[in-house]
Formats: sequence, structure tokens, C-alpha cells
Amino acid sequence: MTKYIAKQPDKKGYINFSPQEHQTWETLIKRQKNTIKNRACDEFFYGIEALNMSETKIPTLQEISESLNITSWKVMPVTGTVLVDEFFAMLARREFPVATFIRIPEELDYLQQPDIFHELFGHCPMLTSQAYADFVQWYGEFASSLTHSLRTILSRLFWFTIEFGLVKTSQGIRIYGGGILSSHQETVFALEDERPQRKVFSLHEVLLTKYRYDVIQDRYFIINSLESFYEMMDEKLLLSALHEIKSSQDNPFKTC
Ligand SMILES: [Fe+2]
Repeated sequence: MTKYIAKQPDKKGYINFSPQEHQTWETLIKRQKNTIKNRACDEFFYGIEALNMSETKIPTLQEISESLNITSWKVMPVTGTVLVDEFFAMLARREFPVATFIRIPEELDYLQQPDIFHELFGHCPMLTSQAYADFVQWYGEFASSLTHSLRTILSRLFWFTIEFGLVKTSQGIRIYGGGILSSHQETVFALEDERPQRKVFSLHEVLLTKYRYDVIQDRYFIINSLESFYEMMDEKLLLSALHEIKSSQDNPFKTC
């Protein structure tokens, strides 16, 4: 159970954060802007510039949405549990759900549940990238068409790309996953620690890889470029892989 409670926006959509909450934002964004230097991909830095987020106040969702106009995305407040169907429907409408709470100062490295820093700082800069923006919308549409068990397998694709993805660049491996880029510890760990595996992206392997959401990851997958997202949207290939994996999970002892 979370101790965090999302705030209700007022009639104009404005969320009333306390001075302490704005201070937490300031601490987080200043620290993280420093940590991502030479670690985030160029597209993320482009997005940071395009969004021009305040460092002293939690940005309003309205101002973030205005900046995301370049890829026709907007952010929408989420104040409670979003049913999974509604979550995918929002992505399909190019509406990115944003939790309206921020972690407390004692939990700056908090990982349990996405807060507004994770959503705005971790994901929104990348939503200015056309390939990433198109992929997230497509994901919402495609996931909507699947059964619960196939969605569970597909969620690994979202996890190891949008949340925890690395990308090969001419300067070396860089980060684009929002789960990493909103975490001070994991931004360093994902690229420099010797413990995690860093593997070349393989769709099949990603779909087979289970993950935990409440710990630092033990493996990351590296795509060749953000254009790789367009290759991932091959629904025929994906459906065949999803059904094959589901069938092997349903019949683990089946031999051919
Ligand atoms: Fe996320």
C-alpha cells in the first residue's frame, strides 16, 4: 500500500503543491540535470530544452502539454488507480498519464510507484522525439487489442524500452528510458556499474524477460537508434511471438 496520495487538480486543472513539494522538485531536477550529463541521449537533451521545465517549481501540466504540441502529445492528471483499459486508451489518444504527487524529501531515491518527477522529467522530454512519441501511441492501441495474458508479456517490451532502455550512439551507450533518467542512482548504475547485463536488443529475448518494478534492474537492452521503434511496431511479428511465448508458458513441459 502506498502512503502517497495524488492531489486533485482544481477546476482550471491547476494542482496546488506545497512549498516543500516545490522544494523537493528543485532538489530532484537540479541533481538529475547534473547526473544525466554525458549519460542521456541527445534526443532527451533536446526535449529538456524544448520543455524548458522550471527548476524551482513543479511545472503545470498545461505548460508541459503546450510544449508537447510538437508531437501532438499532452499530459493528463491521474489522481487514482487507472484501469488498464483506460491507461492504454489514454496512450492511444496521445495523452500521457501523470500521477499528481511527488515523493517526500526522505525518499529522494524512491522507486515504488511513479510520481510527477518520474513522469515529467523521466518521460516527457522523450515525448518530443517523433519515433518515441509514435511508439508510445502505437503501444496503447496495440495493447488495447490484446487479452490480459498477452498484454502481460507485451508489457516487457514497454518496460525494457520506454522505462529502462539504452541506445547506441556515436558517443557510446546512452540512456533514453524514463525509469532510469528519473533515478539518480540508476542513471549511474545503468551505464557504469559492472553488475548489470547490457544486452543488444532482441525482441524475442525482451518478451521472455520478466522484470521487477521495485528494484534497480539487473539487465538493460540496447537499441541501435530511436528509429528501431518503428521496427518494433511490426504487429504480425509481435503477435506470433506473443502467442508462441504464451503457449510455452501454458505448457512448460511440452516437448516437440
Ligand atoms: Fe514510467
